Amino acid sequence: MTIASGSKLAVSVLFLFSIAALAFVPAGLITTASGQTENAAPKPTPEPAFDRKAAVDKLREFVKGKEEQPAETVFKNIQIFKGVPAGRIVGIMGGGFSRSLGVDCTHCHTPEDWSSDAKPTKLIAREMKAMADKINGELLKNMKTLGDRQAIVNCTTCHRGELKPATNMPRD
Ligand code: HEC
Ligand code: HEC
Repeated sequence: MTIASGSKLAVSVLFLFSIAALAFVPAGLITTASGQTENAAPKPTPEPAFDRKAAVDKLREFVKGKEEQPAETVFKNIQIFKGVPAGRIVGIMGGGFSRSLGVDCTHCHTPEDWSSDAKPTKLIAREMKAMADKINGELLKNMKTLGDRQAIVNCTTCHRGELKPATNMPRD
């Protein structure tokens, strides 16, 4: 057997092996980009797709004329954004929260009732905001040697478009 045909054989054996290996991956182990385990079987009643643009347009319409009012006087369940102009809330939600974490509004909300605290992720987001405020307002501010530069952390600093912030640099 020549060297060339030997390596060809090795390649085809490897190829067959990977096909066989794939066949044995249980459907439940196929993970989505968000890291959640997803069943590959089609769902019997698919949830209606969330139309983010329509939802945001509707919210902007709702806030119209009240943009400058404190958020807590316009929305029903404002705890961390008290005093923030109502017109900024939807922007913070889209740019600051969804984009930083790489998720859609429905990760934290049931859009039928934006004020609901039913999803634990919404409660986590409140605590995360409190943590970031503490880092900025106390820990960074009171550093003795950092000087008076405007050092801040926000959701993006850690999350960078991912739900789970990295703890290691990717290997290449
Ligand atoms: C990471 C979680 C998270 C994501 C993603 C998120 N939100 Fe929120 N949202 C919150 C939290 C937390 C509050 C409560 C803020 C507070 O307590 O001041 C909130 C409050 C709101 C409110 C005020 C509701 C009320 O009546 O009290 C609206 C409206 C809203 N979000 C819309 C959106 C929209 C639209 C999107 C997508 C573009 C979105 N949110 C994405 C966490 C999130
Ligand atoms: C100092 C770093 C840091 C900052 C700043 C930070 N986070 Fe996090 N966040 C984490 C870590 C760590 C976790 C836990 C991830 C894990 O292990 O699942 C997390 C988890 C979360 C989760 C749960 C993720 C999930 O699986 O659903 C939400 C929601 C979240 N953060 C929202 C926010 C929001 C909103 C902000 C900005 C107000 C923020 N975080 C700022 C570090 C941070």
